[in-house]
Amino acid sequence: MRTVTNIQDLRAIAQRKVPRAIFHYADRGSYDEATLKANKAELAAIPLRQRVMIDVSNRSLATTMVGEPVSMPLAIAPTGLTGLFHGDGEIHGCRAAHAAGIPFTLSTMSICSIEDVAGAVSKPFWFQLYVMRDRGFSASLVERAKAAKCSALVLTLDLQIQGQRHMDIKNGLSVPPKLTLANAIDIATKPVWAAKVLMGKRHSFGNLAERVPGGDSLTTLSQWIAGQFDPSLSWKDVEWIRSIWPGKLILKGILDVEDARIAAATGCDAVVVSNHGGRQLDGARASISALPKVVEAIGDRTEILFDGGVTSGQDIMKALAFGAKGCLMGKAFLWSLAAGGQAGVAKAIDIMRKELDVSMALTGTRDVKDIDRSVLG
Ligand code: GLV
Repeated sequence: MRTVTNIQDLRAIAQRKVPRAIFHYADRGSYDEATLKANKAELAAIPLRQRVMIDVSNRSLATTMVGEPVSMPLAIAPTGLTGLFHGDGEIHGCRAAHAAGIPFTLSTMSICSIEDVAGAVSKPFWFQLYVMRDRGFSASLVERAKAAKCSALVLTLDLQIQGQRHMDIKNGLSVPPKLTLANAIDIATKPVWAAKVLMGKRHSFGNLAERVPGGDSLTTLSQWIAGQFDPSLSWKDVEWIRSIWPGKLILKGILDVEDARIAAATGCDAVVVSNHGGRQLDGARASISALPKVVEAIGDRTEILFDGGVTSGQDIMKALAFGAKGCLMGKAFLWSLAAGGQAGVAKAIDIMRKELDVSMALTGTRDVKDIDRSVLG
C-alpha cells in the first residue's frame, strides 16, 4: 500500500474499501456541485504569507472551542450514516477524536445511537440535532442528549428540505442498504467492509429506531428525509430548542450576514459558517468567502466555527486567519474512517495537525491563538 501522507490518500483508500453508494454519499455534492467545488477552490486560492528567521521552536496548537479546551482548532463534524462507512463508525470516530483531544459530533442520522456511543466512550461528545416534523420526537432527542451528558448541541439550520444529490438517487441509496443485484456485486468486492459493517451493533439509524420504515417498505434515503424533515421550521423553533437545552448551543449552517445577526440574537454560543459541504443550495457562496462577512457582523458577540472544504492544516489556518475559532472536518473524517476505522481517523487528525504546525512555523506563528489576517500573503 502507498504511504499515506495526506487526506487525499485516505480518500483513495476509502474509495476502494466501501461500496460505491456509500462512498458517493460522502464524496459528492448537490446538483452541479458548483458549491462543493467552490468550497475547495476558493480555499486553495488564498495565499499564505511566508515569513523567515523568526524563532518558531516552541509552537502551541492548543486553544478552545465553545469554551472546551482542544489540542488543536478542529472538531469532527456531524455526518449521517457514519456507521455504514465502518462498523460502529461513530464509536471509532469518537474514540479517535477524544484520544487526539478534539470534539466529536454525533449526527441525528447516525447508525450507532446516542446511548451506544455514550456507553463506549469516557468523555462527553457533541450531539447534532435535526428538528423533524414530530416536535415531540425532537424534544425526546434533546432529553437523550442531556441524559448522555453531551457537552454541546449542534442545531443544523440548513436542511429543512434536502438538496438533490444526483448520485444518491442514481445509486438508490437507502438505509439500511438495499440489496439490489448491482449492490450485491459491488459489496461482494468489498468483503472487509461487509464483515465489519455486519458485525457492527446496528445497520439503520440508531437514534430513530422507531421512525425508520420497516424492511418491507424501504424507501430511498432522500424520499425518507422528504417525509421526516420539516420545511416549516423557523427561528421560533430555534428559540424553542434554546429553551429546552440549557447547555452550549451551536447553530450550524449560517452563510448570510442577516441570518448571522438573527442567530447571534438567539443567545447561541457559536455559529458554524457552512453551506453543508456543498450538499444543499448549489450556487451558494463558498464557505470561506462568506466567513469574513459573518465575522465582521457578529464576531464580537459569538464564536464562529467553520466548515466547507477543509482537508488540510493549511485550510484550517486560512479559516482561522479570517476569524474562525475552529474548523469542522466532515468528508475528511468519513474518508479516513472508511480507510482505517479509529486508526484511520487518528491518522487524518495527525496529518492535519502536522500540516497546521508546519504552516504556523513557516508563517512565523508560535501560537495558534495568534493567527489572524497577518498570516495571509
Ligand atoms: C445530511 O446531513 C446530509 O448532508 O446528507
